[in-house]
Amino acid sequence: VNNNLGLQGFPKYKVANIKDLQNSSCPVYFFAYPLTNEPCFLIDFNKLKGMTDVEFKNPYYGQFRINSNYPKVVGVGPKNSICAFSAICVHLGCQLPAQVLVSSPSYPGLNPSSTILHCPCHGSMYMLDQGGVVVGGPAPRPLPLIFLEYDESTGDIYAIGTNAPYFSKTRPTSNLIYDPDYSYQIPKNPACTTG
Ligand code: FES
Repeated sequence: VNNNLGLQGFPKYKVANIKDLQNSSCPVYFFAYPLTNEPCFLIDFNKLKGMTDVEFKNPYYGQFRINSNYPKVVGVGPKNSICAFSAICVHLGCQLPAQVLVSSPSYPGLNPSSTILHCPCHGSMYMLDQGGVVVGGPAPRPLPLIFLEYDESTGDIYAIGTNAPYFSKTRPTSNLIYDPDYSYQIPKNPACTTG
């Protein structure tokens, strides 16, 4: 296996069309990447809280021994407002309830106003509109981003890479990103609930 390719070794494939998000009131759209059972989600920050021209620093750039080529992330789509993240908590690998839109801290989910996504297992909190940085709990690093490309002529959205280029077969470890023993599921779309 040649690991020298780093992020360039990730596949590019279509994960959605812009109509998939436009036809739903839900700001979240699930897909699998890069493995077929590895849950990720698109998030439209315009639909979530009215943001346009979303842009933030890639919190993994030059950090965590990850050779990311992307110093910043910009949203895609007609309003430059769509980004994507892994739906697997980087603490111990629980699946994050990104489709649960709630504001109550006692009910883990995604808070639409703060954009904080709360892991139900041990309380890690990731602020999505800051690139998934950790704002609470035991997660050792930010929620991995999925890098996107958008084809204006067709509306197709492609995943082209991620900040999570390695897996662990043991647990718990400090570098667990994806646990192959855990049974992940890709939620159906549209998938939002409001708690
Ligand atoms: Fe998410 Fe522990 S697995 S906080």
